[in-house]
Amino acid sequence: MEVLGPQESLSTSPPDKPKLMNGGNYILEGRDSSKSTWLLFAPGTRDEAGSLAKFLSVFSRHGVNLSHIESRSSARRPGYEFMVECEHGSGDFGAALKELKEESGYLNIISRNYKDNRSAVPWFPRRIRDLDRFANQILSYGAELDSDHPGFTDAEYRARRKYFADIAYHYKHGQPLPHVVYTKDEIATWGAVFRKLTELYPTHACKEHNHVFPLLIENCGYREDNIPQLEDVSNFLKDCTGFTLRPVAGLLSSRDFLAGLAFRVFHSTQYIRHHSRPLYTPEPDVCHELLGHAPLFADPAFAQFSQEIGLASLGAPDDYIEKLATCFWFTVEFGLCRQDGELKAFGAGLLSSFGELQYCLSGEPELKPFEPEVTGIQKYPITEYQPIYFVANSFESAKEKMIKFSETIPRDFGVRYNPYTQSIDILDSPKQMKDLLRQVHTEMDHLLKTLEKI
Ligand SMILES: [Fe+2]
Repeated sequence: MEVLGPQESLSTSPPDKPKLMNGGNYILEGRDSSKSTWLLFAPGTRDEAGSLAKFLSVFSRHGVNLSHIESRSSARRPGYEFMVECEHGSGDFGAALKELKEESGYLNIISRNYKDNRSAVPWFPRRIRDLDRFANQILSYGAELDSDHPGFTDAEYRARRKYFADIAYHYKHGQPLPHVVYTKDEIATWGAVFRKLTELYPTHACKEHNHVFPLLIENCGYREDNIPQLEDVSNFLKDCTGFTLRPVAGLLSSRDFLAGLAFRVFHSTQYIRHHSRPLYTPEPDVCHELLGHAPLFADPAFAQFSQEIGLASLGAPDDYIEKLATCFWFTVEFGLCRQDGELKAFGAGLLSSFGELQYCLSGEPELKPFEPEVTGIQKYPITEYQPIYFVANSFESAKEKMIKFSETIPRDFGVRYNPYTQSIDILDSPKQMKDLLRQVHTEMDHLLKTLEKI
């Protein structure tokens, strides 16, 4: 595990005033990470006095603006390492990078614009609050509706959608999730969906979903006449598995969406489908999230499976992101499993669709065993029922398969989620691995000693 030492942070030319966050780190909130590149580097074999000043002079010589500078004790080598965020479009970044490569003993480049730089690793969030950066990286804003959307000509509905998109857009990590007062129409829509789906759950949903659902009724206000608040559901999930919900203003890229899962964060919509067609929605809505997704995130094995997909995605090349997103589609969204010899649904797209939940178990569609190498390249339609479903034996076995698959991703470092700091440790040195193994060894020791006593 990468142990972060005392950190010093300062900003040289921030466009906004940096805000001191818990833990003594500075982060520029809302910064567009596509316009910057992060460099992690360390001096050569030994620390020299004033080495940070020496490195900083490289950037200043080439006119590259730094919006974030951080020094920390290195988990890779004795001494310190540095992390800087370079703004694009300022100075000669290529020349600064060349010089830095010559001067440093270790250099790692993390960039949204990794396609322009072959040695760069695609940017990914390192700390849970880095997810705030996704807020302004959405592919389409939730208030924009296609002309064939049931609410397209309904001005009131469109205004409501804009309201939901705006509150999600301004949400920041650590804040309570926005409390929403739903209208009578919205509650009636939820009620229609809730009534129909709960008729099917006892016979069609997997046992984990049926185990959790009564707990959501008891603890989170799941009722026909009440749309639960994301905050209540998120708090419930946090108690069960550490998963939390985060409102999202629109469509995220697969890379960003999957990265959230690495932190056990699920990006969730909060608006509801149009009341004219309660059993149809062309996009995820609060019924899909709370009836389909939320119950399963309370299950420890499913939560871990989902997090494995997220961890595998961090810094992965684009073609692997597509495979992982496809695995997500055929499991978390449209997965089936076999339980006590019977086929059951666990995918949220199924558990939130009255029609498809019946269709998927009808014997009509084709069924294949879940194998990430095969599942990850299967093409699928997004506007009609799935012609093919993949069947998992259990969440545990699906997780093992995902871990094995993630080992094939070309990435010259490992990642590990550190729940104490809610951050991602990048594992790329024998020293880190030794420290980590020592910790696991201590834990094993505790467990064995406890086992001897009981
Ligand atoms: Fe979904």
